[in-house]
Amino acid sequence: MTTPQDEPMKYPFEDDHRLTIPAEFAELRAKCPVQRITLPYGGDGWLMTKHADVKTVLGDPRFSRAATVDADIPRTTPWKTEGGGDLLAMDPPEHARLRRLVAAAFSRKNVERWRPRTEQIVDGLIDDVRSAGAPADLVELFSMPLPITVICELLGVPVADRHFFQHFSELVFGGAGVSAEAVENASTSLATYLAEHVARHRAEPQDDLLSQLIAARDEDEDRLTEEELVTLGVTILVAGHETTANEIANIVHTLLVNDLWAGLVAHPERVDTALDELLRFVPLGGSEAMPRVATEDVEVGGTLIRKGDTCFPAMISANFDEDVFSFPDVLDLDRPHNPHLAFGFGPHYCLGAQLARMELRVALTALLRAFPGLRLALPASEIPWRGKDTLIRGPRELLVSW
Ligand code: HEM
Repeated sequence: MTTPQDEPMKYPFEDDHRLTIPAEFAELRAKCPVQRITLPYGGDGWLMTKHADVKTVLGDPRFSRAATVDADIPRTTPWKTEGGGDLLAMDPPEHARLRRLVAAAFSRKNVERWRPRTEQIVDGLIDDVRSAGAPADLVELFSMPLPITVICELLGVPVADRHFFQHFSELVFGGAGVSAEAVENASTSLATYLAEHVARHRAEPQDDLLSQLIAARDEDEDRLTEEELVTLGVTILVAGHETTANEIANIVHTLLVNDLWAGLVAHPERVDTALDELLRFVPLGGSEAMPRVATEDVEVGGTLIRKGDTCFPAMISANFDEDVFSFPDVLDLDRPHNPHLAFGFGPHYCLGAQLARMELRVALTALLRAFPGLRLALPASEIPWRGKDTLIRGPRELLVSW
């Protein structure tokens, strides 16, 4: 068994909160893949940086998310993990009970039913970009409204309310720069908002996911509590747009700064493979992996993790593991084998992965067709980024010309 470095490293590492990955991850993969770290709150934990070890922590049932709820564990943010029916804060078998209720809605087959409507929304947004004229902000006009419109229609809440919940959604994904009170208030505001829509749908059921969940609860109260119903709605609303919206902007930005736009315009048939590589390459969630607590002693990558220890599986590091990806620092849009962990792994594998893939594909294909000469309207160094107040990375504004 290797001995971990005696001195715990301060974590998170210095970060510019753009799309650069702190150099420490590569150094640790080479020298000490399972590293003792000191977090800003709650003490010391472990950081896993290799693909195989990250998968172990994400997939092995001896690592628990439920044990993080309301616990003063080592963490990057001042607030503790909230429970109350959040899928990402549950362990099997309770987790499976809840996830089963929504899994079908996000299956590949069901997501395909949403493709024509997504294409229609994208066409409308491309018209908006065109009529705004260059330089246009792709975030405001395209990448934000697309996933918001899709998830609102799928769930059954009015798109017109987007400015209200968008503000709170960003806070719920708050990073170290946001206060615990702000996160708590945002979470309560979103729950109150969703509860009002649950009441409205209960009185007048519609053909949407919220109505299906209400029916599931009202038929058999053991399947879903009222709190879980509301939290599930909030999770889907928030996770359903913050991630995809920022990823669309990140992907366009990455293609443009790497001079890869024209190549994809000429070969749109490469979009699927290219998207997987972009998902691998873009560190959307930054350094702030969701921690897991060991429920018994477990050996990971040759290091003994004691029962009760907190572990941080760094997916952004795993996606650059030299043992899995050849030349990982090269953005290779034709990469043939790409087992990236951008959507996670194990029981918490992203519920919306199929939906996100479909939206990303429709969005990118349409942008390539509509704007073959797309370019940044400002030098890349002048693009404003969201910064340390949020866990999800992306440009606040992406001015483009064509
Ligand atoms: C590019 C877009 C997206 C990316 C990169 C992404 C990434 C992820 C990752 C890495 C996880 C696992 C986190 C962990 O285990 O610690 C996750 C979980 C989750 N994602 Fe996504 N996501 C995206 C889009 C979406 C969308 C569109 C939805 C809409 C429903 C969604 C809903 C969820 C939910 C509910 C979970 C928790 C699942 C569970 O605990 O069972 N995501 N996502």
